[in-house]
Amino acid sequence: MQLLKKKNADRAKKHIFAAQQTYYEQPLTLTGGHGTRVCDDEGNEYLDAFAGIATNTVGYGDTEVAQAVAEQAKKLMHVSTLYLTDEMLDLAEKISDIAPEGMTKTFFSNSGSEANEMAALISRLSKNSTDFLSLEQAYHGRTLYTVALAGQSNWRNFGPVVPHVAFVPSPYCYRCPLGMTYPSCGIACAKAAKRVIETQTNGNPAAMIAETIAGVGGIITPPDEYFKVLKETLEPFGTLFIADEVQTGWGRLGDGMFGITGTYGVVPDIITSAKGLASGMPIAVTITRPELADVFKGPHINTFGGNALSTTAARVTLEVIEKRDLIANAKRQGEKLLAGLRDLQKRFPLIGDVRGHGLMIGVELVLDQTTKAYAPNEATRMLEEMRKRKVLIGKGGRFGNVLRIQPPLIFDDNDTTEFLKAFEESLAAL
Ligand SMILES: Cc1ncc(COP(=O)(O)O)c(C=O)c1O
Repeated sequence: MQLLKKKNADRAKKHIFAAQQTYYEQPLTLTGGHGTRVCDDEGNEYLDAFAGIATNTVGYGDTEVAQAVAEQAKKLMHVSTLYLTDEMLDLAEKISDIAPEGMTKTFFSNSGSEANEMAALISRLSKNSTDFLSLEQAYHGRTLYTVALAGQSNWRNFGPVVPHVAFVPSPYCYRCPLGMTYPSCGIACAKAAKRVIETQTNGNPAAMIAETIAGVGGIITPPDEYFKVLKETLEPFGTLFIADEVQTGWGRLGDGMFGITGTYGVVPDIITSAKGLASGMPIAVTITRPELADVFKGPHINTFGGNALSTTAARVTLEVIEKRDLIANAKRQGEKLLAGLRDLQKRFPLIGDVRGHGLMIGVELVLDQTTKAYAPNEATRMLEEMRKRKVLIGKGGRFGNVLRIQPPLIFDDNDTTEFLKAFEESLAAL
């Protein structure tokens, strides 16, 4: 088996682009899974607390989703956006029911990057402006436009990046970019959007895009009133607000289907999402009001967008989320995880901050509580230590020092207990 593992690393080196980097010193080859467990090619079973980057909403091998996809595959897989299917229309109607009132239209694509491209396009056309606002530490995908919207130098690693994007300080309370303290700051970071618009744009930016919680940036979790203040700041300029719910959508934050409406109580102009919607089948959505959706007259094609397999998987995933009350479960397990991790924080000075909502949790590692020096090597070692204890987690943050815990929404009490035990042992081992 060791030989096989080596062989896979060699095969990847030979045939996969070098830019596609994997976790772990010895890359992990995954072969199958069930529920919250995933197996490797050496017969090891792991508790997966990263879910294919916050994507495997209902876990591995869910029979309802798998059966629906298999049935659909026999009937009709693909026709392209040149034709209609009931599967696509059923999902569009369902999403319109879930979305905030008036957001009745959806454009289907295949990835979060594409969903954000469409959001940017309709904003540009609607406002007749090519200027944008984004957040420091933001991540919105890997196309040219979405790389231009990235607020992290390591993810701005190709160019030329043409669109003009001005960056607003992020709501990163643990390392406030303005050197202030919450709540006495009065959410100055959101109010700073005014100054950014006035000094760094044409005065009429088409839109501001923001992740509800910045995932790749290190689970940067805004204070409760942040988005209300941000929206009020944008309103006088007529700047549209795009909520990137690629990671935070479909119940992950434990307060309704979307974090921006459920957790933060704000209705954006456009919602983009992808990842967890179809439990692992590729799908993405750009959701908005008719007047914004229809500003773009086309023609436009997305060959695989809204294909019958992905839309079927999405429809069943949404049904499962509702039927099994997975949003409430995300809240419950999230609270337990946060409490357990905060307890560990008191005993392990390596933990600088614990933050998040529902099953989107970040643990920021620092070398020193006072200087808050980044601890990226320790974060890498934590991933390895957790792997030894058969638990998978993720990593993020501009300096790679934030551990990311974003498990399937079916994580149960036993999973949470097992996770916290492995986390404590891994910290101790470090
Ligand atoms: C917030 C956010 N937006 C957009 C994307 C891009 O999604 P995709 O990789 O499906 O293009 C990601 C991916 O991690 C993301 O986290």
